[in-house]
Amino acid sequence: MKTNIKDITLANSGKQKIEWVAKHMPLLGKIENDFAKTRPLDGVKVAISVHLEAKTARLAYVIRSAGAEVAVTGCNVLSTQDDVAAALAADGFIVNGWYNATDEEYHQHLVNTLEFKPNVIIDDGGDLLKILTDERPDLGTELWGGCEETTTGIARIRALENTGALKFSMIAVNDADCKHLFDNRYGTGQSVWDGINRTTNLIVAGKTVVVAGYGWCGKGIAMRALGFGAKVVVTEIDPIKAIEAHMDGFDVMLMAAAAVVGDIFVTATGCEKIITTEHFKVMKTGAVMCNAGHFDVEICKPDLEQLSVDIKQERNNITGYKMADGRELYLLADGRLVNLAAGDGHPAEIMDMSFAIQALSVAFVAENYEKLQPKMYNVPREIDEYVARLKLDAMGLKIDELTDEQKRYLSGEIL
Ligand code: NAI
Repeated sequence: MKTNIKDITLANSGKQKIEWVAKHMPLLGKIENDFAKTRPLDGVKVAISVHLEAKTARLAYVIRSAGAEVAVTGCNVLSTQDDVAAALAADGFIVNGWYNATDEEYHQHLVNTLEFKPNVIIDDGGDLLKILTDERPDLGTELWGGCEETTTGIARIRALENTGALKFSMIAVNDADCKHLFDNRYGTGQSVWDGINRTTNLIVAGKTVVVAGYGWCGKGIAMRALGFGAKVVVTEIDPIKAIEAHMDGFDVMLMAAAAVVGDIFVTATGCEKIITTEHFKVMKTGAVMCNAGHFDVEICKPDLEQLSVDIKQERNNITGYKMADGRELYLLADGRLVNLAAGDGHPAEIMDMSFAIQALSVAFVAENYEKLQPKMYNVPREIDEYVARLKLDAMGLKIDELTDEQKRYLSGEIL
């Protein structure tokens, strides 16, 4: 099996990053110790395609501690950190990927990763599954199933399931409560602003922030924008989410109206073509745009390029687009997820929960694959609750327990 990375001499810097996050991921530490004793993945081949940075590296170590052979690649060309890839390669993992790979190189990295014929895949956005389904079914002959990390990947699996094209059992890790309630909301809420602020070095207070999509990610982004002192506008297509946004105190508008008033735009819909020509034409000069959704299709870059008379790299991760009327619009991180492409992703403590669910779900697939059908499964409730209890312990929080009498009351026995 081939390892393909940029520069192995960066390994020390990557190792430091991994050691730092390990100190803040106690759930994974506990699961790693347990796995080392019980070896639930002895001899199992696991392929991981998740943003290749330090927290993902920790997950790779935990999976390996369970006895697995692990191949790692990224899931977005701008979120791969070369030093982390080097640290993993130096420690014997099969690693494929580098920062800013071309689309062809990225695709080849995924194929290389699948070439060791994994038994279990960990996908983030569905790219591994797509290759196994549409292009190289020969690489899936030993696959028992997989786990999907994000909302967009879940939508892709559901689409395959609906057309009868899903060939493997996939666990919807994103939909576990201990994942999306915290990762998508609090993780994205914090790390998107970290990405925007460190990239632009501009003030948020007093500005109008437009958040497209009021799902789990959008809620977090809007909540934290408010904390920075912004006026927040939400755009939606779902009437219920729109009412929620309104009652949470935000202005709800059409994107056509929001485009005129916004200073900072953040898309988090998982949909495409959210900001397009009609919006670019009416935006204020200096407007900053970025995306938090999985794919770089929310802010329509081809439209922006077509309208521009000049395109300039303003500073790292900021591209300036000059319009014919002299206005300048700025796009962060090429329209890719700003928190990962222009930052370090979610806080370690948040990914500790998400990846605890991942690690336990991989063990679940390995233990139960003979009983699973080619369809999408929820993470078993016991795993979700176990991770929640581990997290409470890690935070030193205690909660009450139902008495037997309360249990009888709640079950209706003594009503
Ligand atoms: P969600 O399904 O909870 O929310 C998406 C929201 O966007 C929904 O309320 C939907 O009604 C709305 N929406 C859809 N099309 C729209 C349109 N054309 N205009 C306005 N609103 C529209 O999904 P979630 O979990 O918030 O994820 C959103 C995206 O972010 C997905 O692509 C997901 O994979 C990605 N994601 C990114 C993370 C990151 O680190 N940046 C972390 C977790 C998820």
